[in-house]
Amino acid sequence: AGDALIDPFSRRISYLRVSVTDRCDFRCVYCMAEDMTFLPRRELLTLEELDRLCSAFVGLGVRKLRITGGEPLVRKNVMTLFRGLSRHLVSGALEELTLTTNGSRLAHHAAELADIGVRRINVSLDTLDAGRFRELTRRGDLGVVLDGIKAAEAAGLRIKINAVALKGINEHEIEDLMLWCHDRGHDLTLIETMPLGEVVTDRTDQYLPLDLVRERLAQRYTLTDLAMRTGGPARYVRVEETGGRIGFITPMTHNFCEACNRVRVTCTGTLFMCLGQEDAADLRAPLRGSESDEALRHAIVEAIARKPKGHDFVIDRNSRPSLSRHMSMTGG
Ligand code: GTP
Ligand code: 5AD
Ligand code: SF4
Repeated sequence: AGDALIDPFSRRISYLRVSVTDRCDFRCVYCMAEDMTFLPRRELLTLEELDRLCSAFVGLGVRKLRITGGEPLVRKNVMTLFRGLSRHLVSGALEELTLTTNGSRLAHHAAELADIGVRRINVSLDTLDAGRFRELTRRGDLGVVLDGIKAAEAAGLRIKINAVALKGINEHEIEDLMLWCHDRGHDLTLIETMPLGEVVTDRTDQYLPLDLVRERLAQRYTLTDLAMRTGGPARYVRVEETGGRIGFITPMTHNFCEACNRVRVTCTGTLFMCLGQEDAADLRAPLRGSESDEALRHAIVEAIARKPKGHDFVIDRNSRPSLSRHMSMTGG
């Protein structure tokens, strides 16, 4: 079953990202509008259904599972899902069970996540300035997130900090963010903003190509390209002066679709084969239609067989977002 999920471009799909809720306690300016309408809770897959869905993918060869949102830790009883899924770590079917979180509830869950077998987590943190943090997230509290990160450190979790690089907003803070991360032994990855969903701010104003950031860093630090890959899209460099790593996620300037190994499922059971394309497959009907996983597996295999070659995002002043769907539907 290990090679059941090979797409038309010979890419092996080994990484599943599952959004367990479209809700979030933050409203990051590049991600959401101020007033978002979320799905009625009855629309969500149950935790049991999410487990079955993830397990079907594991049975088909997925080796890495990332729980996302929205903010995954605001989903009620989400730890039950993690605990259940950890059986695939124990059996060796799954190499990595992890999550991407905004950190707001991490202080409550870090120890349990570590106990369950989660080894590393990604925490979104775009700035270390409390005022700017509030402006960017509209309702986040930097202190709470930093406490969450401390709890994760104390629990022995490895941490990667994700920062969306935003022109004129955090661009001059990137070096500080890097030093802070490296000082604490964390990787930092920078992300180019992508045109997903209607947000209030103008992305053209905020878009910052990472080549520029890299050039600026290279004036002060020695950056050495690393071959290391995590299975995610980042390309890493070592910063010789700090001994730490920085990853660059460059969907806009250096498309990484050629090596794509992932698909994502929304909290309603819709499978998106590409973050940047509309084509999707409904997995909820086959999931609910039968107690056997036969139809579900069939639907997954069929969908992978039409995974598109890549996204065609553009950021340009006169164009609407390439996709109306917000990042919080698919979790990146
Ligand atoms: P690692 O396991 O640490 O490599 O994580 P990751 O980079 O796979 O996951 P994370 O949730 O930290 O993702 C960081 C960001 O990368 C996402 O929020 C997206 O912005 C972007 N990203 C991840 N996968 C894709 C993809 O397939 N296409 C595009 N365009 N962007 C992606
Ligand atoms: N472009 C790029 N990254 C985004 N994220 C959310 N919205 C966008 C966007 N439009 C990032 C978050 C988080 C990750 C899950 O996705 O900052 O790190
Ligand atoms: Fe929430 Fe993450 Fe979107 Fe911010 S980027 S609003 S933390 S889902």
